[in-house]
Amino acid sequence: MRLPAVTTLGLFAQGIHGAAVLRFGCSSIVVERLDPLVNPGVNPSPHVHQIVGGNAFAASIATSDVSQIANCTTCSFVEDRSNYWTANMYFKARNGTFKRVPQIPNRYLDGEVGGMTVYYTMPYDNSKATAFKPGFRMLAGHADQRAAGGVTKYNAICFRCYNAANFGGDNQAPCSDSTVDSVTLPAKACPGGIRTTIRFPTCWDGTNTDSPDHMSHVSYPSSGTFENSGPCPSTHPVKLPQLMFEVVWDTSAFNNKADWPADGSQPFVFSQGDATGYGQHGDYVFGWEGDKLQQALDAGCFGASCSKLKTQAFSEANKCSVPKAVNEDVDGWLQAVPGQSMPMKAREFMA
Ligand SMILES: *[C@@H]1O[C@H](CO)[C@@H](O)[C@H](O)[C@H]1NC(C)=O
Ligand SMILES: *[C@@H]1O[C@H](CO)[C@@H](O)[C@H](O)[C@H]1NC(C)=O
Repeated sequence: MRLPAVTTLGLFAQGIHGAAVLRFGCSSIVVERLDPLVNPGVNPSPHVHQIVGGNAFAASIATSDVSQIANCTTCSFVEDRSNYWTANMYFKARNGTFKRVPQIPNRYLDGEVGGMTVYYTMPYDNSKATAFKPGFRMLAGHADQRAAGGVTKYNAICFRCYNAANFGGDNQAPCSDSTVDSVTLPAKACPGGIRTTIRFPTCWDGTNTDSPDHMSHVSYPSSGTFENSGPCPSTHPVKLPQLMFEVVWDTSAFNNKADWPADGSQPFVFSQGDATGYGQHGDYVFGWEGDKLQQALDAGCFGASCSKLKTQAFSEANKCSVPKAVNEDVDGWLQAVPGQSMPMKAREFMA
């Protein structure tokens, strides 16, 4: 479907400033316990992820030019053979068993299967930003976070509770509308599902494509946020385009209160054992071909088509695959979330 004009679209509030915004869908390439960024070579890694993008994805990915290792992508732009991933959401039924919550395509991205929406946004003050380099990788958020703090002060992670089907309630920029947005998992049932937003750091040290914690080579603004054009710190002076993920979890099959915990608390838990939502995190391994990302952003491209890039139909993107490397069931009704001890510790179900 073609994108309607930006000004008619509340969900595009991110783009009304006029600078380039690439917004495109990427289908799932695999759902499994691998994490080549945090646990390279470890099979299985501690928790389940949903991964999208290029077919270089594996237990470890060489730090060379990933666009040369992969030869297809589940994303709309064929030049983007990056990998993007997040934790998965599970539903814990009152009887103690778990079921993976499916994902649905975002608005205007029909044909995507599972997966997520990826955004690259240029600075709101129309200044220049420098696209990522081959070998670049980074992490946003902290999988172990279970309390207020962390990256929430940068508006980096939040949820939107859709109060009706078809993205009901979605008419403001992410993390900006306290009537539908929260930094914790919504406490009530969300008839239209729950959207995750993850915003990555937008300042770079200009030298290192990675760091031991996959974070310290990049930074959020030294004050304010990317959205209000907060400045980069002197330690990380190079502005990056903002990478943002949106994942739409289709919780509609799990909204029967009779299946929720008897105390009425919300029943969803992330695959790292986080029922608060503070531990939302995203991973990025850059894999764009040549300087195509820079070209697209400098050309002011918007949405999922760009004169500098080739867009493929989801019917084509969905053919890109990687062999499943971990032999375990991540779907079905499970006795435990894969890799997590059973029963879930009580403290993980607080908040
Ligand atoms: C694409 O990559 C896959 C897996 O790495 C490989 O098996 C296949 O031969 C490649 N195809 C082409 C056309 O290079
Ligand atoms: C547990 O509850 C879910 C949701 O009601 C149900 O689909 C599943 O069959 C139940 N499993 C067992 C073992 O009772």
